[in-house]
Amino acid sequence: MRPCSLTVLSQLSPVSDSALDSAMPSQTLDPYTASVINATGPATTPRVRQVFSSMIAHLHDFLRENKVTVDEWMLGVDMINRIGKMSDERRNEGILVCDVLGVESLVDALTYDLESNDHTKSAIIGPFYRENSPQYPNGASIIQKDLGGDRAVVHGHVKGVDGLPIKGARVEVWHTAPNGLYEQQDPEQPEYNLRGTFFTDDNGYYEFVGLRPTSYPIPFDGPAGDILQLLDRHPYRPGHIHFLVSAPGHRRLITQIFDSEDPYVENDSVFAVKGELVVTFQPSTSEKAPFEVVYDVVLPTSEEVAAYESTKKK
Ligand SMILES: [Fe+2]
Repeated sequence: MRPCSLTVLSQLSPVSDSALDSAMPSQTLDPYTASVINATGPATTPRVRQVFSSMIAHLHDFLRENKVTVDEWMLGVDMINRIGKMSDERRNEGILVCDVLGVESLVDALTYDLESNDHTKSAIIGPFYRENSPQYPNGASIIQKDLGGDRAVVHGHVKGVDGLPIKGARVEVWHTAPNGLYEQQDPEQPEYNLRGTFFTDDNGYYEFVGLRPTSYPIPFDGPAGDILQLLDRHPYRPGHIHFLVSAPGHRRLITQIFDSEDPYVENDSVFAVKGELVVTFQPSTSEKAPFEVVYDVVLPTSEEVAAYESTKKK
């Protein structure tokens, strides 16, 4: 059989019988829907069987409840095709569509929210992350080309839930230029502009100079924009800085910090804002920048995550 990338589902966390029961619609399945689900072969992995059975049941219910016509279904097929055609290494329209429908933020919450509140909250990675951003020494600037905007020193400590510093934690950051574009969207910006990778020092301290982030519209010239227009919604995201923080023995954190004074902080087009992630950019005493923000990151250990997860299941 041809290898299928969906087989990776079988390597994800196992699902209990009770989770399987709760994933299925409670009412008796329509015979036609049951026949489609029952066509699943015996070699299918449990996770694939669960996810596809549930998806088929919910999808069929959605079609019946809304009496979807052939013309409407074709509009949906066309949209999916356009999502694929618009996507490449510089643009991920699939993630954008998920974002405006609140899907990525929900999956983020389902994956990373724990019972405990003593760690830093996660937020969506979004469609503009790039691996291998330049590594800079602590305190350096990620601004390769001056395109205006207010500079800001962003600094803090990475520590464990126990409060002890995490030395050598990897801190990746990225944000847009003042024109609202990430470097891969903008031919005027150098490669990896406004992106950088830093490592915490012996005290768990990190520091970089970037820009006070500005609100920007997500790209709305494709299917994600069509959806926003259909739903009479704006495309703006509040100004934010993306973080990806990792350290051996600890759970990787993907998050964003949001400017408390941004006009869209309570009206994010992709529903990613959490109160704990809203920060205040203060006037700075540093000669490096007129603003600064202090942001500490708390990472749980793998053992702590396992303990939280087992508490959640009880
Ligand atoms: Fe972003």
